[in-house]
Amino acid sequence: MSGPTVLAFETSCDETAVAVVEGRRVLSNLLSSQVEAHARFGGVVPEVAARAHVEAIRSLTHRALGEAGVHPDDLDGIAATRGPGLAGSLLVGFSFAKAMAWSRGVPFIGVDHMEGHLFAPRLDFEDFRPPAVVLLASGGHSQVVLMRDWGDYRVLGQTIDDAAGEAFDKLARFMGLGFPGGPAIDALSEGGDPEAIRFPRALPSRRYDFSFSGLKTSVVTRLQKAAEAGILPAREDAAASIQEAIVDVLAAKTMNAVEDHRVEIVGGGGGVLANRRLRARLQEEAARRGVGLFLPRPVMCTDNGAMIGAAGSHRLERGEITGWAAGVDVSMKL
Ligand code: KG4
Ligand code: ZN
Repeated sequence: MSGPTVLAFETSCDETAVAVVEGRRVLSNLLSSQVEAHARFGGVVPEVAARAHVEAIRSLTHRALGEAGVHPDDLDGIAATRGPGLAGSLLVGFSFAKAMAWSRGVPFIGVDHMEGHLFAPRLDFEDFRPPAVVLLASGGHSQVVLMRDWGDYRVLGQTIDDAAGEAFDKLARFMGLGFPGGPAIDALSEGGDPEAIRFPRALPSRRYDFSFSGLKTSVVTRLQKAAEAGILPAREDAAASIQEAIVDVLAAKTMNAVEDHRVEIVGGGGGVLANRRLRARLQEEAARRGVGLFLPRPVMCTDNGAMIGAAGSHRLERGEITGWAAGVDVSMKL
């Protein structure tokens, strides 16, 4: 018996995700991506996102239960992301889940989206457990978290301006690479030289905090000046250098936390952890320090329903359920 069977919903941003988990065992994990609907606007449009969730959620729920081979009567609980995220998007999954739980007479569990990301490594690795340091980096957040226990987290540091994924997205847009920007920069960087342009690394004196807005300014001014002088760098080199600047600080601050708090387990979550260069750098740094690195598969790094299910199943096991009167919390804090 690996834990309660939970149907879980994640609709905090632009992906409708529904999963069925049993503890840390994933029985089904489906996603309906809205990337195409938002790509022509160059970013996520909240109203478009909320409507797309409404359109996708019912059939996705049927499919998730069917694939898992679980009848709704066999569910121990229903979980949904409570926040942080876009209000309209959150409301769709949260209300749908709460109504379904109420009508079925099973407990409802509202889950912090970031706690979901913290549970993602546990889905892929049996040996991932606290005490651990986890790097969370997505389109909305960049944090270094000390996990003292499941449910006991301390945010050691975070971004003081843009999130790492936001920096990737904004810089990709500036380079005309489309949306979402992270995967585009990752792919373009492949043949590029990461040392071609040395972009600044912000906040060197702070152990765990990040800042990415200065990088954007620096990239824009450096590339504009280069264009005026007629010596524009190769696009691959520019992309690889941008990626290196972001990856460098994410890896360095994570390792500061590993050293200061003497943990032997490092995890990661959030869309930016799908980045190949970041994964390689963390691997090198972890190996050098002799600590274990647990990075979920890229599909488990980006938003998904299974991670919400894992966190929800854990909370349900401890009797931590959410009242029917609860609403979404767009700025929920870990
Ligand atoms: O966790 P996530 O799926 O959604 C949020 O909660 O934000 O993260 C999405 C972010 C986007 O900013 C996207 O550009 C970035 O993760 N991302 C990447 C890669 N794949 C996704 N950034 C860098 N390299 C990637 N391969
Ligand atoms: Zn996320």
